[in-house]
Amino acid sequence: MPLVLGIETSCDETGVGVVRDRVLLADEVASSVEEHARFGGVVPEVASRAHLEAMVPTVDRALAAAGVTLADLDAIAVTSGPGLAGALLVGVAAAKAYALALDLPLYGVNHLAAHVAVDVLEHGPLPEPAIALLVSGGHSSLLLVKDVTRTMTPLGQTLDDAAGEAFDKVARLLGLGFPGGPVVDRTAQLGDRRAIAFPRSMLADPSYDVSFSGLKTAVARWVEKQDGPIPVADVCASFQEAVVDVLTAKAVRACRDVGVGHLLIGGGVAANSRLRALAQERCDAAGIVLRVPRPGLCTDNGAMVAALGDRLLDAGIAASALDLPADSSMPVERVVC
Ligand code: KG4
Ligand code: ZN
Repeated sequence: MPLVLGIETSCDETGVGVVRDRVLLADEVASSVEEHARFGGVVPEVASRAHLEAMVPTVDRALAAAGVTLADLDAIAVTSGPGLAGALLVGVAAAKAYALALDLPLYGVNHLAAHVAVDVLEHGPLPEPAIALLVSGGHSSLLLVKDVTRTMTPLGQTLDDAAGEAFDKVARLLGLGFPGGPVVDRTAQLGDRRAIAFPRSMLADPSYDVSFSGLKTAVARWVEKQDGPIPVADVCASFQEAVVDVLTAKAVRACRDVGVGHLLIGGGVAANSRLRALAQERCDAAGIVLRVPRPGLCTDNGAMVAALGDRLLDAGIAASALDLPADSSMPVERVVC
């Protein structure tokens, strides 16, 4: 059975995973998130530098954790896009070096397809077609997945801020720190999600697109207008409810419209406890099977890239050329570069 090493550097996580025939053998992540905290968002140059420093040690840790050596590998997979150009470049250059030195096939893969493919590690073969909702700091997309090794069809996306970006910006305006998602999620558990009626942008719109910039502004305006202390927990809970209400409504509607019985949710925001609960509730009511990987596999990691590489190898898909680019705006329809 082929052994695949996966490398992910599209944002602020240096992720290296090792997968053999749908089995996860290692998943090592070195994050530079703390270096970005004081800027309130990921600083591309800082992320690139951190990837450079973390790359070889993280590969070594992943191989050791899997109990294998470089000589045991059969293929290398790397995120070639979309993502931060400089950050992607570090992973792609490293993957090329390993592939060339070890004389192995190299797959430059789409980050979003990897977010979908990772679920096979936890829940087995992906039922296709499926609808995938990918929500993170960099992307918010609703996709039709007929064959994750070949192509994914975009149904809708955010018109402005990504869902995770909205969490990060609202956390910042409430003084809760960065990244905002986890702390808003925790704080929301102490609040009332019906306390404040924040807008559900695009909910009534027939498209599958979403928009979170107006919601972020609505939260800022509401906070500004308060005379007394801000009920932070209620703001978090009500804001979070507005985000997950729209996301889950659109995802379930897409499943119904397209006639698909499986919904998969991935990306960092899929770690959100209320998103998971409401998606489960609405999928149950609609007779849709929901698949969400555990939180550690939802945020960016190398296991997802290795998982997709493993599926590509299994499907007999041709490897990338050794001059494959780091493509910061890689189209979602293209799975392999
Ligand atoms: O997938 P990811 O690790 O990296 C990107 O590709 O962006 O996602 C990070 C994003 C951040 O915006 C973070 O605030 C958000 O995911 N996030 C959450 C939660 N955990 C992480 N958002 C809402 N609730 C959470 N529990
Ligand atoms: Zn991601």
